[in-house]
Amino acid sequence: MKVLMVCLGNICRSPVAEGLLRQRAEEQGIDILVDSAGTSNYHIGEEPDSRSVAHAKSKGTDISLLRCRQFSVEDFDAFDQIFVMDYSNYENVGKIARNNVDMKKVDLLLNQLYPGENQSVPDPYFGGEEGFDQVYNMIDAAVNAYLKKLS
Ligand code: 4NP
Repeated sequence: MKVLMVCLGNICRSPVAEGLLRQRAEEQGIDILVDSAGTSNYHIGEEPDSRSVAHAKSKGTDISLLRCRQFSVEDFDAFDQIFVMDYSNYENVGKIARNNVDMKKVDLLLNQLYPGENQSVPDPYFGGEEGFDQVYNMIDAAVNAYLKKLS
């Protein structure tokens, strides 16, 4: 299984999602390939946001070595499943999709936890520190729900 995590900047939410899915899968002995990307070009080549790195580290997840890249149409071919963090990510990915086969791979990550509710992982970029903690916990729960279905 090849899974891509997508947000806007690829510096706050999707790197945490990438790191957590990889870590939890490893812990559970599940073979999975994970990557992340952003729909924007704002931060290409950059490290994740220092607040995301610090919060993830404090919870035992190292995302310091990840680097930002932009989502592209080739990702629809390279991945089996594409999880977006919020509905605007869903729309942005939809603008690049070629057909329904592409879009069938795309879903909101929190639908793994709350099926059909289309809930978003809120963007913590412009908010306070507590947002990063909340994002980590939401993503961890969703990733675990996803892995439960896979195993
Ligand atoms: P992310 O957060 O999509 O979770 O990585 C953001 C990071 C950067 C910006 C917006 C959201 N930005 O506008 O630069």
